[in-house]
Parts: sequence; structure tokens; C-alpha cells
Amino acid sequence: MSNIIKIAIIGLGQVGNYLYRELNLQRRNIEIKTAKKIKIIAISAKNKTKKRKYHINKKIFYKDPIKIIKELKPDILFEVVGLSDGISKKVVETALKNKINVITPNKALIAKHGDYLAKLAEKNRVNLEFEASVAGGIPILRTIKEGLATNKISKVYGILNGTTNYILSEMENSNETFDKVLQKAQKLGYAEPGNPKLDLNGFDAFAKIRILSALSFNTKISKSKCIMEGIENIKLEDIKIANQLGLRVKLLGISEIINGQLFETVHPCLVSKKTYIGNVNGVMNAVITEGKPVGESVLQGEGAGPGPTSSSLLSDLLSILRGNTKYPFGISSNKRRSIKPLSNDKYTNSLYLRFEVKDKQGVLSSITNRLAKYKISVKRIIQTPDKKNKKATIVIITHKTTEINSRNCLSVFKKNKNILKFPVLIRLYN
Ligand SMILES: NC(=O)c1ccc[n+]([C@@H]2O[C@H](COP(=O)([O-])OP(=O)(O)OC[C@H]3O[C@@H](n4cnc5c(N)ncnc54)[C@H](OP(=O)(O)O)[C@@H]3O)[C@@H](O)[C@H]2O)c1
Repeated sequence: MSNIIKIAIIGLGQVGNYLYRELNLQRRNIEIKTAKKIKIIAISAKNKTKKRKYHINKKIFYKDPIKIIKELKPDILFEVVGLSDGISKKVVETALKNKINVITPNKALIAKHGDYLAKLAEKNRVNLEFEASVAGGIPILRTIKEGLATNKISKVYGILNGTTNYILSEMENSNETFDKVLQKAQKLGYAEPGNPKLDLNGFDAFAKIRILSALSFNTKISKSKCIMEGIENIKLEDIKIANQLGLRVKLLGISEIINGQLFETVHPCLVSKKTYIGNVNGVMNAVITEGKPVGESVLQGEGAGPGPTSSSLLSDLLSILRGNTKYPFGISSNKRRSIKPLSNDKYTNSLYLRFEVKDKQGVLSSITNRLAKYKISVKRIIQTPDKKNKKATIVIITHKTTEINSRNCLSVFKKNKNILKFPVLIRLYN
């Protein structure tokens, strides 16, 4: 690499446009810290004439990103388009094959094709950096790859999606329904206006947990089917009841090694208000690692938004400018092993179950009898009658039981005419 580093940015949306401005603003700082000068030689997006928040130099705008790679041969390319396949994959693949370093915040791409792309980067002796793909501005990937490099990490978990954490916190604070708070989040720019589905259904957090697992445990990105549940079905009623019980609902991503097998999941959890994770509110993200000999480490910060994301993208840039080529996942792809997944059926939790039932004698005992038949023992019952509508709400907190046991036990409630809706189930985080 010469002293003037040629940079290309593909994608000028929320993140790419901000990054373009930030690179220009930070030019001198980068030179002081790396003794290298940077020059943005090319930019690309779908629409050249689109009005953008920050001014761009249209003279270096190219419609075709592949042309930038093949003809202008930048030293470093930022892929900030965001698809898991299509043009994003093509751009990254072509850049790596042409010995161009790549930096991307694209978790969907890395979670799906990270193993293949890392191999490609290693083969061509260039860097593939993706710090911004997990938890926005929190430097969690570099912490795992470098700061905690010699530790044996056994667990990594946390709040990995700012949109859902904002919605859950705001439902509790404002006493408003999911739909109302979602609209608020969209207005504030915390949730995508068009299609926030990938945040809400847990997919975004799940892609991040898969990347975290691979880095933490030196494994290939797992492909196994896991429990992935979002927050779309969380009702204000459950948040209120949880509050009375000293609990809060949080969407957690969890990955751990249990008896040598990998367990990854994303689902809403009830956590105590007294815990650290129970007090990470609003758009904040937090990632907790457990390792030996280091013990527990916690990193908290802003998990999304162009500012925090650009901070991580620039940290990747400085890492490339300062040093040698590094393995994208911390160790050589040849040394990363595949790991057997733990069966979801064996996942064990205490449960919060909320039943809406007819206010009739014998209904509660029919529920507890069924639970007893499956050896699910009850820790607490709260029954709230609604005499006017001849209904009642029954909330049951159980002792620990396995996923398969609870599934089999609950299935029969579908046919019980006294139970008005299939029970709401939220797992307690141990
Ligand atoms: N937004 C965040 O807070 C955040 C946080 C962390 C990570 N990320 C990641 O950052 C990436 C970008 O997110 P974003 O929010 O900036 O997305 P975005 O606002 O939707 O921007 C996407 C950009 O890609 C461009 N594009 C689409 N198709 C293209 C093509 N065929 N060739 C060239 N450019 C093309 C679009 O062009 P036009 O502008 O012309 O339509 C747009 O500029 C994603 O991987 C996302 O997961 C985002």
C-alpha cells in the first residue's frame, strides 16, 4: 500500500453518506494516527441524482460498483449497501478476488457468507473487516479478537438490537401499546419506516449472535435451526404484569457452549429489574462475555445509527492502515471448526405463562393438573378476575422445564374451550 490510500464507498444511504462525510472530516486525524493519507476516489449508489443529507462529489460517482473495482483498483472498499446476497455479495467477492481490502457493516452478508468470504480474503492476503456488523459503535469484535484473544470464552449474550430495546423500554415508560410505540420509533428514526420486520422478528439480532459465536468460539458460522423469536407478540399487559413482579422484558441474543455443543438463540426474556441487563434501556446495546481466565466482561453503548456505525467502520480502517493482514475471524479459516448444535428441545428455563380463560370453576385446576402431568412445577400463580366479561387472567410462573416438555404440555390447551386464547409464553432468563 502506498502512502496515499485510495478508498471507494459503495452505498450512500444512512451509513454510507455519513461515512463519506466523516472520512473527509477525519482525514488529518487519520494521517496523524497512521502516517497515511486517504483519498476517496469513487462512490456508488443506486441513484446518482438522489438528494442526500451530506453533499457528495458527483464527479467521482459511478453507477457500476464493479467497474470501480476492476478499473480504478482502490486499496480499500467500503460495502455499505446491506443485502445478504445480490450486489453486496458480488461487490465484496469481486473486491477480495482483486486483492482489495473490504470493510462492511453488513451483518446479513457476514452471517450468511462470512466463512466463504473470510477464506477468499485469506487466499488473496487482504483484510475483510466487519466490526460495525455487531452492536454498532461497541468495539465488541475487536475486543474478542484482540483484547480477549487468549481467553476461552464459554458464553456471549446481550441486547443486540436497539430498535426492539427502545420499543420494550418505551412501552413500559409510556404505558402505550406495541403499535403506538413502533410508530414513535419510526418517527424518531430508531425503526425503519418501510419494513422494520427484520429488527422486530429477531433476525437482525440472530445474525449478530451467529457472528459473535464464530468469533468467540473459533468456529464456523453455524447453520442449524435455532429458536428465533422477536417481540411482535409482546403485549403491554405482559409488560405491566412483569413490572409488578420486579421483572422486565428484554430481547436477548444468547450463545454458549453447553457440554461441548453450541447453543444459539434469540427470544424475549424476563429479567430481574435488579440485574445489569435489566437496566440497559432505550436504544442501548450491551454485550456480555464470560471467559477464562478473564471472567465476565461487559461492553455497553449505542448499537445503531450512522454515527456509532461510522465509528466502528473507521476503527476497521485504522486497523488496516496500521497493520498487517489479519484473519477476518481472528484465526485461520482452516483452524475454525464446525460445532455440533445442542438440540433446542433440551433448552431449559422457568416460564411465564399467561392464560385468558372463562371465569368458571375448575379451569385453574385443569391447567395446573396438566402442568403437573408434565412435571412442570408451579412457583407462583396470580389470578385476576374480570367479572364484567366473565373472564379471568391467570399468570403462572413455573420452575425450570425443558423446551420440549413445555411445548408438549401447552399444545393441548389449544383444544380447551375454557381457555380463550393460546397462552402467552415468555421465558425467564436465569
Ligand atoms: N442504519 C444503521 O443504523 C446501521 C447500523 C449498523 C449497521 N448497518 C448496516 O449498514 C448497511 C447500510 O445500512 P443503511 O442503513 O445505510 O442502508 P440504506 O440507508 O438503505 O442505504 C443503502 C444504500 O445502498 C445503495 N444501493 C442499493 N442498491 C445498490 C446498488 N445496486 N449499487 C450501489 N448502491 C446500491 C442505496 O442507493 P440509493 O441511496 O441511491 O438508493 C443506498 O445508498 C447495512 O448492511 C446495515 O445492516 C446500519
